[in-house]
Amino acid sequence: MGHLLLSFTLLFFALSPINCDFVIDGIRSIQKRSIAKPANDIEVYSIIINSQLTSRFAHNVITSRAVNRANVSKEAFFNVDLPKTAFITNFSMIIDGVTYPGVIKEKEVAKKQYEKAVSRGQTAGLVRASGRKTEKFTVSVNVASESKVTFELVYEEMLKRNLGKYEMFIKVQPKTLIRKYEIEVDIHEPQGISFLDAQASFITNDLLPAIQKSFSGEKGHVSFKPTIDQQRSCANCSTTLLDGDFTVTYDVSRESPGNIQVVNGYFVHFFAPPKLSRVPKNVVYLIDRSGSMHGRKMQQTKEALLRILNDTSAQDHFTFILFDSYITLWKDSLIKATPENLEEARKFVKGIYLAGATNINDPVLKAVEILNKAHETKAVPERSVSLIVLLTDGEANTGESNPAKIQENAKKAIQGRYTLYSLGFGNDVDYPFLEKLALENSGIARRIYEDSDADLQLQGFYNEIANPTLTDIKMQYPENAIADLTQNNFKHYFEGSEIVVAGRVTDNDLNSFNVDVKAEGADKSVKYTENIPLKSGDDVSDQQKYIFGDFTERLWAYLTIQQLLEKRLHADPSEKANLTAQVLELSLKFKFVTPLTSMVVTKPEEKDKEEEILVADKFVEGQQNQISSARTSWQSYSQPITASASSNYHPTFVDSDPHFVINVPQKNDTLCFNIQEQPGVILNLIEDKQLGIAVNGELIGNKKTDNVISNETYFGRIGIINREMKIRLEVTTEKITVLNHKNQKTFSWQKRGSISKEGFNLVVNKRSNVTFSFGEGATFVIILHEVWKGHPLHRSFLGFYTLDDHTFSEGVHGLLGQFFHGIEYEISNVHKTDNPDKPDATMKVKNKLLTVTRGVQRDYRRDPKNGIKIPCWFVHFNGEGLIDGTHTDYIVPDIFSIAS
Ligand SMILES: *[C@@H]1O[C@H](CO)[C@@H](O)[C@H](O)[C@H]1NC(C)=O
Ligand SMILES: *[C@@H]1O[C@H](CO)[C@@H](O)[C@H](O)[C@H]1NC(C)=O
Ligand SMILES: *[C@@H]1O[C@H](CO)[C@@H](O)[C@H](O)[C@H]1NC(C)=O
Ligand SMILES: *[C@@H]1O[C@H](CO)[C@@H](O)[C@H](O)[C@H]1NC(C)=O
Ligand SMILES: *[C@@H]1O[C@H](CO)[C@@H](O)[C@H](O)[C@H]1NC(C)=O
Ligand SMILES: *[C@@H]1O[C@H](CO)[C@@H](O)[C@H](O)[C@H]1NC(C)=O
Ligand SMILES: *[C@@H]1O[C@H](CO)[C@@H](O)[C@H](O)[C@H]1NC(C)=O
Ligand SMILES: *[C@@H]1O[C@H](CO)[C@@H](O)[C@H](O)[C@H]1NC(C)=O
Repeated sequence: MGHLLLSFTLLFFALSPINCDFVIDGIRSIQKRSIAKPANDIEVYSIIINSQLTSRFAHNVITSRAVNRANVSKEAFFNVDLPKTAFITNFSMIIDGVTYPGVIKEKEVAKKQYEKAVSRGQTAGLVRASGRKTEKFTVSVNVASESKVTFELVYEEMLKRNLGKYEMFIKVQPKTLIRKYEIEVDIHEPQGISFLDAQASFITNDLLPAIQKSFSGEKGHVSFKPTIDQQRSCANCSTTLLDGDFTVTYDVSRESPGNIQVVNGYFVHFFAPPKLSRVPKNVVYLIDRSGSMHGRKMQQTKEALLRILNDTSAQDHFTFILFDSYITLWKDSLIKATPENLEEARKFVKGIYLAGATNINDPVLKAVEILNKAHETKAVPERSVSLIVLLTDGEANTGESNPAKIQENAKKAIQGRYTLYSLGFGNDVDYPFLEKLALENSGIARRIYEDSDADLQLQGFYNEIANPTLTDIKMQYPENAIADLTQNNFKHYFEGSEIVVAGRVTDNDLNSFNVDVKAEGADKSVKYTENIPLKSGDDVSDQQKYIFGDFTERLWAYLTIQQLLEKRLHADPSEKANLTAQVLELSLKFKFVTPLTSMVVTKPEEKDKEEEILVADKFVEGQQNQISSARTSWQSYSQPITASASSNYHPTFVDSDPHFVINVPQKNDTLCFNIQEQPGVILNLIEDKQLGIAVNGELIGNKKTDNVISNETYFGRIGIINREMKIRLEVTTEKITVLNHKNQKTFSWQKRGSISKEGFNLVVNKRSNVTFSFGEGATFVIILHEVWKGHPLHRSFLGFYTLDDHTFSEGVHGLLGQFFHGIEYEISNVHKTDNPDKPDATMKVKNKLLTVTRGVQRDYRRDPKNGIKIPCWFVHFNGEGLIDGTHTDYIVPDIFSIAS
């Protein structure tokens, strides 16, 4: 069995998210330790993609298993393309039976860890880059010979209804033949499924039977399980034909316009009224014809405009404004879409030619002026929808070219009356600018990728907004019984889409509540009312059996985070800090990797080596700009946290293998040392003869394995005696035993427990710590470091912390106790060593000169997994010179030894 000789390789910020090849090359070149390329020796023998989908909310788990068949260690890669709209919620690796789980952290914290890892020359390598709909997740890990690795990635997303269907998309790209390749999708839609389809872009006749799909009532199922022979690109080939997109599409039945799901106090309301008359629309198309639109881009734009004109309804009004350095009007007002006018427009579009630079400010203001005039003169129907569609491939570079000023001008001119959509064509656009411009004017931005299908992308966008059927939609819920509502007022409803609102029911006694939806239709106001029964759900538990039970809450959190992130893009700085704080809090609570958090996988420390970390991040459109803006807004929020962390008092304690950490508050400094002894040895930590209190700890070693010779020791048992109180307390990694006179009480770590008796207080916090105090001024906490039983190397162990020591007498002694009343020393001659992070210095203490080294230890009370770093002066050779006598003086015969 291979041991844990593995090095995680992972990475982080792909600064150029679009060009994925570039990023990967960049990473390869920093992989100093990467052994040969992953050859055939690494066999990926299983990839399983499992999706559970209920009420539009998808929970996806990708599990990939590989084995290293070579006789040397090799690097295994795990590559996944996941939808941009999804949030990663978990990532873990299992190597030789040991699970390394992912932990959600604030991005800034994770980034510091990552940068540290890189500065130590350790490899790191998770790349994020993007395709159109996807972002890339890449991890590589060194796998020992004959060892196995399992990668498990979990992500969640809400499927948005578009043009009458929900679409779930899975990128299939195994690169080699896989013995077991499976996609399984389970769908549960309480409204009933009206159709279900599954397609693969790489499908062949031989492969067709591998796709199974069925649905009935509320349930649908799709599976794709190609045998290894079906995967071959030809009969005897060893290459795979699985390469492309696997897409599941479906829609639900709609007997009523709305559907509400309530589970565990959270509700989600889906609203999509069946066919209604369309509301006429008035559209001003702002078309960039600057020089950069040359070649295929303008050709495709014309192509798209011609198709859009063909699809334009006769009730609609429209016009074109071309812009370069100047603006060119087709007409100086909106024109009805009569066949003659459409024909004239086609001629105009075909004749568009290129000229000049890019002025965005003036055409936007002109469009507003035209719409204003049309409404004032009643040239357009009173009940109609007015839209501005801006298409550009570059940044504003003439006229008003300050992006903030353009946004301000546009917002002021539009005054919330019209909706502005921005289409950014290609990679040279200032996407964050376009996005903010649209979001501030109730629209959205869309990127159009420079590709052979750009015209279809443009037309596809138009189709989404082609048929408005309601305007000014107000979703109303009983105010006194509902809280934490997501957006509930919407400017438009477009045919084929869906409005989703989620919230929390605050009144537990409610049997039902009413929902009113008020909106303006094509020719009258409309109102839908629904009564939602809140039965304490037998069918809920039924549903839970089939699918995950807390989906309404997670869906609420997902939607809330998405909306707050969007708001944050166009909030002013003071508001932004608050939004940032809210998003961060929710992301951490619900464990979503959002633009403010990262998923960190930590490899346990080995001797003389810092941990290595892997980080997963969220891709953000227009990333470079957004990272810097995220940073700015982050700073104002993070300052108080940093301030409180640095003034953080840490106690004198001993933890890990065993590191003694001595707080010296008089000097605002910390000292540290290790004690190397054999397992079974009992060391005295505190001894106060006057008070009759002693604390002793017994060392345990690691497990014995064939491959790892480890002499690390930890505290596995701690004994505390208080003679006055007649208390003996024994803490092991299994249980806590209190002996008082003749009464014995035993607590398990597996549940909370407490005692309070005549000045002695003890609280067991389930699987985390036991806190106890002897009267005032002697308080301690013992932390349980729980290691999985099957861990090949490590055992569970304990850390001992003094929270309050001021009751102890002047004579208190022991490895920790002797420092309770301070220690005099001087540090001088700080000088560089080979390791720039670890300078040496001379310590003058007790009339001796010692060489000490700057190092870092960790306080695990707040963060039991990673600890909080504490810089300290490390005293070598078992603390020789610093501690009284030598370390063997502190060895005692029994866990309850105390000098009389
Ligand atoms: C590993 O295998 C190669 C080729 O099969 C062989 O040349 C080499 O000696 C082997 N190394 C070890 C350490 O067994
Ligand atoms: C993440 O996945 C790992 C492995 O399946 C699991 O042990 C862990 O509990 C998961 N974490 C969360 C927060 O669900
Ligand atoms: C595939 O390989 C087998 C055995 O090598 C051979 O008999 C068969 O003709 C090959 N088939 C094709 C289509 O090449
Ligand atoms: C638009 O419609 C006209 C007339 O029906 C037709 O000739 C033309 O091919 C159509 N153009 C496109 C791009 O579909
Ligand atoms: C954000 O602001 C609201 C009200 O202005 C306040 O109630 C809330 O606590 C703030 N949230 C955070 C996380 O600062
Ligand atoms: C203590 O040291 C820290 C870092 O070494 C420093 O930031 C802080 O200001 C110091 N506090 C005092 C009270 O000197
Ligand atoms: C423990 O191992 C380290 C390095 O392997 C070695 O330097 C040290 O002497 C060993 N300590 C004991 C007590 O065996
Ligand atoms: C003990 O554990 C509990 C529960 O995990 C935690 O809230 C508390 O802060 C811990 N106490 C100390 C002193 O570490």
